[in-house]
Amino acid sequence: MRTNYCGLLSSHDLGKSVTLCGWVDRIRDLGGLVFIDLRDREGIIQINVPQGELTEIAKQLGREYVIQVQGEVVKKPVPNPKLNTGDIEVLASSIEIFSPANLPPYELSEPNVSEELRLKYRYYDLRRPELQNNLRIRAKAMRSVRSFYDAHGFIEVETPVLMRSTPEGARDYIVPSRIHQGCFYALPQSPQQYKQLLMVAGFDRYYQIVKCFRDEDLRADRQPEFTQIDVEMSFVKENDVMTIAEEMVVVLFQEVLQVQLPTPFPKLDFETAMKIYGSDKPDLRFQLPLITVTKYFQNSGFHGFDQEVEKGGEVVALKLHGQSNVSRKSLDVWQEKAKKYGLAGLVTIKKQESNLSSSISKFVSPTTIQNVANALEMENGDLVICAAADPETIYPAFGNLRVYFANEFNLIKKNQWAPVWVVGFPLFEWNKEENRWTAVHHPFTSPIPEHESILELTPERVKARAYDLVLNGNEIGGGSIRNHRSDLQKKVFSVLGLSQEEAKEKFGYFLEALTYGTPPHGGIAFGFDRIVALLCGVDNIREVIAFPKTTTAASLMDGSPAPVSPKQLQELGIQIVQSK
Ligand code: AMO
Repeated sequence: MRTNYCGLLSSHDLGKSVTLCGWVDRIRDLGGLVFIDLRDREGIIQINVPQGELTEIAKQLGREYVIQVQGEVVKKPVPNPKLNTGDIEVLASSIEIFSPANLPPYELSEPNVSEELRLKYRYYDLRRPELQNNLRIRAKAMRSVRSFYDAHGFIEVETPVLMRSTPEGARDYIVPSRIHQGCFYALPQSPQQYKQLLMVAGFDRYYQIVKCFRDEDLRADRQPEFTQIDVEMSFVKENDVMTIAEEMVVVLFQEVLQVQLPTPFPKLDFETAMKIYGSDKPDLRFQLPLITVTKYFQNSGFHGFDQEVEKGGEVVALKLHGQSNVSRKSLDVWQEKAKKYGLAGLVTIKKQESNLSSSISKFVSPTTIQNVANALEMENGDLVICAAADPETIYPAFGNLRVYFANEFNLIKKNQWAPVWVVGFPLFEWNKEENRWTAVHHPFTSPIPEHESILELTPERVKARAYDLVLNGNEIGGGSIRNHRSDLQKKVFSVLGLSQEEAKEKFGYFLEALTYGTPPHGGIAFGFDRIVALLCGVDNIREVIAFPKTTTAASLMDGSPAPVSPKQLQELGIQIVQSK
């Protein structure tokens, strides 16, 4: 139906007769002369409608009408530098209307449209050039990933979407069975068990670009259904998996962005990451390290800190270079932030003209202040903020403040990339609500060999053979070496509080599979949406997903989730009751 894309026409096409199809982006009616900006996925071309018969058709057009135009490519008397095609136009000889369009709910070029409206009219919103570009980058990334793994001997295998519930830390989405009433499938939180079974089956190197489903609290970087690049390998140790994962990411950035990531990616121990950056996904594009200064606050005289330290809490400080003149107003904002992150408040120390002053000078000795200042190597003009709390609160809180200040003081340079592996995670964490140990990654992760013997004795000390890949403060991937021996896997289940019967009931088939000849194996999964968001330079993964859901897991366009008919419920043997 067409000879060319609108946006790809250029002065090379001068004099050619062309047929174009697209959407009416804009119409200008200058009395007799009508100009149409015609848009397709490649861009916009101006259509010049000469006075006469065609003017009547042109005058019927509205925004977003879909039309076909025939005409000749001519030079534009006055070029429009805003358009790629700005030095040419098409002099129309015929116009056909394919379909009229309702008045659009908003203009595509309007930057401040509410997200609800954008998501309700997603098919319209997707006409925005930025979104079109993001999805093209996504497709290019997908191609790059597939060709990388193909070239490295990985076999793409699809795994079921209707499966048995697998615990991975989130709640499952469940699907009722009509045939087996009262029984449910779960949608996979990840294909974890299947990919391990593929190793048992001897596939050796597996990958899959796969949808995963998790019913969890949603954020800018979390969707209820999201895409993973899922990988598993046999006869490997941590470094084998990490090396090839790193290579894939490097090639991906090269192919999509022509960016060379700094290699090899540094490795950071989990505990160090928490202590210095206050996060297990530290943004290393800037330094701003946290300094623990607890030792200077043993009976310091400042009750707030002393009390915390006595209870086993820590005092943590951050040095803000050149901020000693901070305004009261900014300090108030920072105090509010600190409270939001669970701290009682922030203490300040300033160094001006070689003098130290502090918001707690009244309570503590000058030596205490001096010690802290020395520990942080304070210079004139510096400001130190510090606070005390239990370690589970203080480090993440300061991690958040660290990122907040980096943004506030523009410490993050554009186009900077800081990948880092975080390793040395604990295998278990104590879940206070459930009063039991839970897996930090998932229950299939193996302990380091030296810790197998203390697995059940001191679970808190056991380190995992796990690794996370972090890029610019985003966790873009995570994986581990697995328990390939069923006795070890059973022990891990037992620490997690599963009785032998429960383990058999939930994972019997899996434990059994491990007894039929299982290679040592391990793998990783990358958050594909998060990687694409980084490649596109956007903060929210909704911007790189064609039809995303809101933070309440709803699709505003098709109105899902939605009730189903009484007949459907009856077939499934399901009755709706109000949950508490
Ligand atoms: P994990 O749970 O760490 O590991 O997930 C791997 C990566 O997937 C991304 N991710 C998400 N992206 C968008 N929305 C979500 N709700 C979401 N949840 C996770 C993150 C994360 O790093 N089976 C294991 C992998 C393995 O051990 O091989 C797993 O799923 O970028």
